[in-house]
This record gives sequence, C-alpha cells and structure tokens, in this order.
Amino acid sequence: MDVAEIHMLPRAAAIDTALITEVSDLVNLVYATAEAGLWNGGADRTTPAEVARLVAAAEIAVARAAGEIVGCVRVRQVGPDVGEFGLLAAAPRLQGAGVGRGLVRFAEEHCRLLGRHRIQLKLLVPHGRARFPADWFGRLGYRVEKTASVEDTFPHLVPRLAVPCEFHLYRKNSIERNSWFQLSLAEQGIHFA
Ligand SMILES: CC(C)(COP(=O)(O)OP(=O)(O)OC[C@H]1O[C@@H](n2cnc3c(N)ncnc32)[C@H](O)[C@@H]1OP(=O)(O)O)[C@@H](O)C(=O)NCCC(=O)NCCS
Repeated sequence: MDVAEIHMLPRAAAIDTALITEVSDLVNLVYATAEAGLWNGGADRTTPAEVARLVAAAEIAVARAAGEIVGCVRVRQVGPDVGEFGLLAAAPRLQGAGVGRGLVRFAEEHCRLLGRHRIQLKLLVPHGRARFPADWFGRLGYRVEKTASVEDTFPHLVPRLAVPCEFHLYRKNSIERNSWFQLSLAEQGIHFA
C-alpha cells in the first residue's frame, strides 16, 4: 500500500526540469481526456514553461505516492478574502482514490491559512453537456455563483473552441479547517492498490 502526501512545491523547484516536465505531462495527459472534443486541434492544456512560472510564484501543489507525482493543483489568491484553484488533475490510474479531494482540501487549507474565507474555481462547460467534476464540486460544498460566456471572459479562446462553451464560477463561501491533509491520506482511509 502506498501513501499520497500533498505539499506546495518550493519556488526553487522551478529550475528542476525533470520535475516541471513530470507535472506538465501529467496535466496534459489528464486534460486530453477531460477536455476531449472541446478544443480545435486538441491543444495541450499547459507547457513546461507555464508550470515553471507557476512554481516560481509558489502556486503549485503536488500529490506524491511512492516518489511519483500523482496529482497537482494550482492555488492563488485573487482578492483580499478570496482564493482560487485550477489546473486540478489526478493521475488516471488513481482517479476515484481520493487524490482529487485531497488536493481540493489542501487548496482550501492553504487559502484559509493565508486569511481567505472564500475559495473559487472556474470550470469550462460545454453547452448542454454535463461534466463529471460539476457534480463532484457540488459534493465538496461548491455552488455555481455565476455563469459567463467565453466571449465576455476570455475572448481569445473563442476561435480555439470546437464546441460552444461557457464558464461556471464555483464558489465556497466558508472554508472549514482541514488540518488532516498534513497527515498521510492513508490515515483518512485513502489507499492505493
Ligand atoms: C476531477 C478529478 C481531479 C477528481 O480526482 P479524483 O482523485 O478522481 O477524485 P476523488 O477520488 O477524490 O473523487 C472522485 C469522485 O468522483 C467519482 N467519480 C470518479 N470518476 C467518475 C466519473 N468518470 N464520472 C462520475 N463520477 C466519477 C468517484 O466515485 C468519487 O465520488 P465521491 O466524491 O462521491 O466519493 C479527476 O477526475 C481529474 O483529474 N479530472 C480531469 C481534470 C479536471 O476535469 N479537473 C477539474 C477542472 S479544474
């Protein structure tokens, strides 16, 4: 049985090319499936250069099991009382094992410790099509606060989209204390075969 541990990557890790590539490859692998059919030409979700920039800004947390990166999330502060996460990914072979939930809880606790009480994420949703994480975020306590057209929010993305989409802003208005992430996830009943 392996155990996953979640931690913020130190800024200095931005020059660790192997690590940056591992994170970038994981995100692109996961989003190639999660966003299949959404983009013209199946563009990558991120690049090593972007991941390195986010690590240097201390915005990337990773989950590791047996030394391997099995998940990641980007966390940042977008207002005096609001944090935001994105680029959430769990390794396909471990999906359903609790890595994603652990990363969301970690992001919440990180923001709470920085004095934020609210946290949000933006989810790109194809018109008229359910997306698995939408229900899942609901179960984690997130509610859609508003929806916005891609044209209004990120117009440069419009020509790249293969199907009409909109952004859903999910928010949680009261972050609870989540100190357990400091423990091994295994102690919370999250195990890997
Ligand atoms: C969303 C994501 C991070 C969840 O990670 P995970 O490690 O599988 O999450 P967890 O194991 O903590 O929870 C998975 C839950 O979804 C359920 N689930 C797993 N795969 C599912 C699927 N294909 N359809 C519906 N439900 C599914 C599990 O049963 C579990 O349910 P529960 O919360 O009631 O226990 C992961 O699926 C992923 O990387 N998706 C692609 C990227 C993405 O869409 N990110 C979100 C946008 S920011």
